Amino acid sequence: MPHALVVGGLGVVGQGLVRHIAGRPGWRVTALSRRAPPAPSPARFIPVDLLDPADAEEKLAGLSDVSHVFFAAYAERPSPAEEVAPNLAMLETVVRRIERTSASLAHVSLMQGTKAYGTHLGPFKTPARETDPRHMPPNFYYDQEDFLRAVSRAAGWTWSALRPRTVYGFAAGSPMSMTAVIGVYASISKELGLPLRFPGTPGGYRAIQQAVDTDLLAEAALWAATEPACAGEIFNVTNGGLFRWEHLWPCLAAWFDLPCGPVQTLRLAEQMADKAPLWARMTETHGLTPIAYRDLVAWKFGDFQWHADYDSLVETTKIRRYGFHAIVDDEEMMMRQMAELRAERVIP
Ligand SMILES: NC(=O)c1ccc[n+]([C@@H]2O[C@H](COP(=O)([O-])OP(=O)(O)OC[C@H]3O[C@@H](n4cnc5c(N)ncnc54)[C@H](OP(=O)(O)O)[C@@H]3O)[C@@H](O)[C@H]2O)c1
Repeated sequence: MPHALVVGGLGVVGQGLVRHIAGRPGWRVTALSRRAPPAPSPARFIPVDLLDPADAEEKLAGLSDVSHVFFAAYAERPSPAEEVAPNLAMLETVVRRIERTSASLAHVSLMQGTKAYGTHLGPFKTPARETDPRHMPPNFYYDQEDFLRAVSRAAGWTWSALRPRTVYGFAAGSPMSMTAVIGVYASISKELGLPLRFPGTPGGYRAIQQAVDTDLLAEAALWAATEPACAGEIFNVTNGGLFRWEHLWPCLAAWFDLPCGPVQTLRLAEQMADKAPLWARMTETHGLTPIAYRDLVAWKFGDFQWHADYDSLVETTKIRRYGFHAIVDDEEMMMRQMAELRAERVIP
């Protein structure tokens, strides 16, 4: 019986992995994160700080039959250079310990992202292909990938990696999510009687975008982890479509029953910083699930996505050539996820 270990199981990516893999017949799921899950989960959760070697040694000791590791933990730091050591250490800690305790280990799946192409640095060659040369380091994805390449050579397990474009999904307490940014920004606009204005740059409104639904990403990760031809391979992954915010924005405005305003460029990290008391009042008035404002939404993630006025495109022919054909309609995904936020009382 396959046993998946989802590392970072409460994150935006990890919660999709837990939900998807636990729903597959015959799979058992154990998940790791420092926090305990806020609601009942189909996975067994082990709260562990992977940056504390003693804690990791103790908490992972009982994992004797893991067959697949899905690594989606992420330690955010102020600069790319500072991200290398902790993110590499977490991966090394898990892999080294599971190798020792689980003779059944067959595969390690690494969640990367299109920062591997330098999406965070500025314009880059598009559409980006998996074989493109790396950007000037540091980039913790490179260190993690090199570690897996090196250790798997002499090991009895294989690895694969995925490079998703912006991931859409919501995980309470993991605020690096555009789903949360859109839902909370639109809800606050509505509460204040404002039209839904695009708060990015005019170029960001018009640039071509790609998205990936957290559920589709999980499906792709499980496929790559279990398809022998994918061993040692890296795959870009998106929903399959392209969009521009200028076309999606009016649909979002209509969904929130708001007039669609023109672009008005804001630094959300600054402009929304004072809205915690307003959100607390909205939580009370609209009967929302109480989630601390700072844990709900990372505005700087919205700034990063909406201020980028260049095309951030990746090619997805490789994943299709290898046999993964699932697609999701971007507009349908956005509206569905807004409806889910409302149904879960995250937004009014
Ligand atoms: N979000 C996106 O749009 C996106 C897009 C492309 C690629 N990616 C990549 O996907 C990966 C996962 O991203 P994400 O957005 O899912 O991150 P996230 O929402 O911040 O989740 C990170 C997970 O790691 C856990 N974690 C952090 N430090 C830990 C520690 N010391 N010990 C144990 N667990 C720890 C967190 O749980 P606790 O806080 O409870 O420990 C959480 O479960 C990253 O490499 C990211 O770059 C993300």
